[in-house]
Amino acid sequence: MCAAAPYNYNCRNHYRRLSSPAPREGLERKVVAALDLSASKGPIVVERAVVLERVGDLRAQLDAARAQGRTVGFVPTMGAFHDGHRSLMRAARARHDVVVVSLFVNPLQFGPAEDLDRYPKDLAGDVAGAAAEGVDIVFAPPVEEMYPGTDFSPDGAPPLTTVSVAGLTGGLCGSARPGHFDGVATVVAKLFGIVGPSTAYFGKKDAQQLAVVRRLVADLCLPVEIVGCPLVREADGMAMSSRNRNLSPAEREAATVIHRGLQTGADVVMAGERDAGKLRRVVANVLTTEPLVRLEYAEVVAADTLSPLEVLDGEVLVAVAARVGDVRLIDNMTVRVDGRGAVVDLGVNVAPTGEGGLCAAR
Ligand code: PAJ
Repeated sequence: MCAAAPYNYNCRNHYRRLSSPAPREGLERKVVAALDLSASKGPIVVERAVVLERVGDLRAQLDAARAQGRTVGFVPTMGAFHDGHRSLMRAARARHDVVVVSLFVNPLQFGPAEDLDRYPKDLAGDVAGAAAEGVDIVFAPPVEEMYPGTDFSPDGAPPLTTVSVAGLTGGLCGSARPGHFDGVATVVAKLFGIVGPSTAYFGKKDAQQLAVVRRLVADLCLPVEIVGCPLVREADGMAMSSRNRNLSPAEREAATVIHRGLQTGADVVMAGERDAGKLRRVVANVLTTEPLVRLEYAEVVAADTLSPLEVLDGEVLVAVAARVGDVRLIDNMTVRVDGRGAVVDLGVNVAPTGEGGLCAAR
């Protein structure tokens, strides 16, 4: 602890919590201070993110910011940050006076046999990472703050109010993860109600989730603009995911076949293929060449309605899911097809070390 008392925000080892009774593991050495609204309107530059655990504290801070005419940009996450998450924070930082990142592993979107317990967690690292991206507030609520009175044990009482986006959630990942997208839609609706952002940023990596959130916002008339940001890949093409940490080195190597399958699909589309069934088989065939990878699905659907296509036309989503060991991975590309030809979007690659920055993946 620093000798200067009591709220010396310049001291690295000093912290002040706003109202939570006990800081959770990982928060102890973080500076937790009130959002500085004293500067004239414009981007707030702070060295450290404010960490809040309580809805009331967050609302108080953001109400004050909005009363001063500041806009709030929001990035919902489950933590274990990688460059995909950071790209969303940068997009929000570029456009908003106040940037809020939520860090909450939402039990409602995990099935009973899923990886909730071993979902990677790195609260201290995430707070530092968010601060380095210029995030103003990290909202990291405990489960009971988000779901008061809810018991998530197998025989417990689920929340009484949930949000379900019918139609978009039965196929693709919805088939293997029943209830998953209801959990996502519910927590996103709650977070929007808590944060009150003008704009929220989501990655195209989770294309079905993005479609569900867009529909949720449209159907419930929520006053939030949804921005879809490019899918970010490792230098070898692998889509970044918090779950990649749970792969063994051999599994990580094998998993690159997922990206190669999509790349092969992109090649046949650029060569003129417009038959969705043939494209689907081309992608699936590449993935099934790798013994460590079990293909769950390869689908070609309309990007907004997620309904299966016979012919590539308009905005098309080519989505895959596979299991590598006991880790479930998803990836995708979008294809825009019109009378003039096709444009394939595989996202952006992080350049190999030393080259810096992001470059467009083709
Ligand atoms: P999480 O998996 O932590 O992802 C948070 C955000 O980061 C999502 O919008 C996701 O699409 C984006 N993201 C993840 N990997 C990415 C990549 N490689 N490139 C670009 N963006 C990427 O998605 C969730 O959390 C949760 O479902 C949540 C929306 C927070 C609700 O609980």
